[in-house]
Formats: sequence, structure tokens, C-alpha cells
Amino acid sequence: MPKFHLTLPVNSEQHELLIDPRQTLLDVLRNDLDLRGAHRGCDSGDCGACTVLLDGKPIASCMILAADCDGEAVTTVEGVSPNGSLHPVQRALVEKGGIQCGFCTPGMVMAAIALLDDNPQPTEQEVRDGLAGNLCRCTGYKKIVEAVMAVNP
Ligand code: FES
Ligand code: FES
Repeated sequence: MPKFHLTLPVNSEQHELLIDPRQTLLDVLRNDLDLRGAHRGCDSGDCGACTVLLDGKPIASCMILAADCDGEAVTTVEGVSPNGSLHPVQRALVEKGGIQCGFCTPGMVMAAIALLDDNPQPTEQEVRDGLAGNLCRCTGYKKIVEAVMAVNP
């Protein structure tokens, strides 16, 4: 199969790649760019562990072909915490106890960032609705919701 020439700005860094056109965005991020923050949970759009921002909007990166993202700006969890600094959402999750095993956390962080960009002071219900596509098997969600609401008190 002919390769696809992909131009992909990720976390403000430009990448030029020759990829198999069947690769998803998650495949390219994890396998070609070695960005392992977006996790592969279900690989079918159900868990949200692979959530990244595409032109500022949260998407399940396992459900979109990388070729369809050509030229669009991608932000991964690595891009919101440069040099090991914590993003305010990450800090709140740590402080409120919203992290246990951590598998869901990168996707949860990216979904929460998108939510807060649109609605800086969401209600509890708005947080729950905004994070509805992100599953967590550990926390019961309460502390995650509290953390997101604590970012902009
Ligand atoms: S791995 Fe993409 S939604 Fe679950
Ligand atoms: S902290 Fe384990 S899945 Fe969310």
C-alpha cells in the first residue's frame, strides 16, 4: 500500500512522516512519535483513555485516521506539562485524590482541559456531562469531579 505523507504539528512541534494510511492518530502518536501519554484502552471509542485535542477539541485518537488529521494541531498530555511542570488540572487531580492507577488520567486531563476552556466554572453536572466519555474504573469519579471544579474556584 502506498505511504501517506503526513504533516502533523504535535505540541507545537512540526512532524513530517510517511505512514501507512490505515494508521490511527493514536498509532502515530504512540508508535511513530513515542508519545505514550495517550493510552490505548478499548481501541473502539468507548473509554476515552486515548483522548487528545485536535485543533483544541477533544477526540478519541483511536477512532480517527492519522491521515485525516493532516495539518491539524494536536495537543497531547505531554504538551500541557512541559519540563515536568503540572498543568492546573493535573495538580488539582493530585491534590483532590482523583488519581489511583492513573490509566484514565491522561485522557481525563485532556477532556477536562477542553471542558474548562469552554466553561471555566462548570457546575458538578456540567463536569459529569463533559467527562462522560472518559471511563475510570478506580475512583468512582467523585474526586475527579471535585478536582475539575477546584481548578477555577
Ligand atoms: S482507547 Fe480510544 S476510546 Fe478507548
Ligand atoms: S484511576 Fe484507574 S482507571 Fe481511573
